[in-house]
Amino acid sequence: MSNNELMDGELEKIEIALLLEGIYRRYGYDFRNYSYASIRRRIWHRIHLEGAANVSSLQERVMHDFEAFQRLLNDLVIPVTEMFRDPEMYLALRRDVLPALRMLPYIRIWHAGCSTGEEAYSMSILLHEEGLLEKSRIYATDINEAALKRANERTIPIDRMKLYTKNYQAAGGQHTFSDYYVSDHGIVMLKPFLSRNIVFARHNLVTDRSFNEFHVIMCRNVMIYFNNELREQVHQLFYDSLSPKGYLILGGKESLSFTPMADRYETLNDQHRIFRKAR
Ligand SMILES: C[S@@+](CC[C@H](N)C(=O)[O-])C[C@H]1O[C@@H](n2cnc3c(N)ncnc32)[C@H](O)[C@@H]1O
Repeated sequence: MSNNELMDGELEKIEIALLLEGIYRRYGYDFRNYSYASIRRRIWHRIHLEGAANVSSLQERVMHDFEAFQRLLNDLVIPVTEMFRDPEMYLALRRDVLPALRMLPYIRIWHAGCSTGEEAYSMSILLHEEGLLEKSRIYATDINEAALKRANERTIPIDRMKLYTKNYQAAGGQHTFSDYYVSDHGIVMLKPFLSRNIVFARHNLVTDRSFNEFHVIMCRNVMIYFNNELREQVHQLFYDSLSPKGYLILGGKESLSFTPMADRYETLNDQHRIFRKAR
């Protein structure tokens, strides 16, 4: 690597740090401890789409133009999700977690980083089929307000129906998926009873605190975008927010290993990343 290339890499790091600092101070979104490689990729994606020359010129635009900021924000938050994503994990939930929840007089569940709500609605269906929905309260949170608005609307893009039906069946669905939605003029809407026990709210895992005590916390495919320091901070938040013997469920590529929390949980299902607070 030449001296110039080395300097370009260093310069880019400085520019990205300044951009993220600017976003934090101007708009309150804190991406400073997200994984650098992922953030860098997304920033460059936006630079190309905006026809900007480099990180600094994107920064100039984002600081002065709220709509440009929103476009970048949309790239940084990655709202990808689906209903019954990783269906076997829901089978494991039915088998390994719900029987213990059945004993409780009241069940509180937190979906942290719920995006457009598909994960929370999947949980709602699962609880309904297990006869537990009426005594459950699902808190589904995200930093992305546009995603939360979509979540509240209960609509499903029609081109997702085939996949969701297949996922529902593979997740051990006891009815037919079509029992849970109505379809009218090409618009598919989940039935209202599925959202009755869900509260969608804005919550930032980086800057906001715990807001309740939960029996289950599901945070899937969110912390993969964080660096180690931020991951540790958020794990502390989850630990503090879980009731004794509460369940923590992470995404398939996420782990508790090598975090200070590793020995505070027992692994209930390694494949599906289901952990139980041990102390
Ligand atoms: C890839 S989606 C995962 C959605 C869902 N959990 C799933 O696995 O299908 C990641 C979500 O995390 C949210 N997110 C990212 N940073 C966050 C933060 N600091 N606080 C809360 N949510 C955040 C994003 O807005 C996005 O909706």
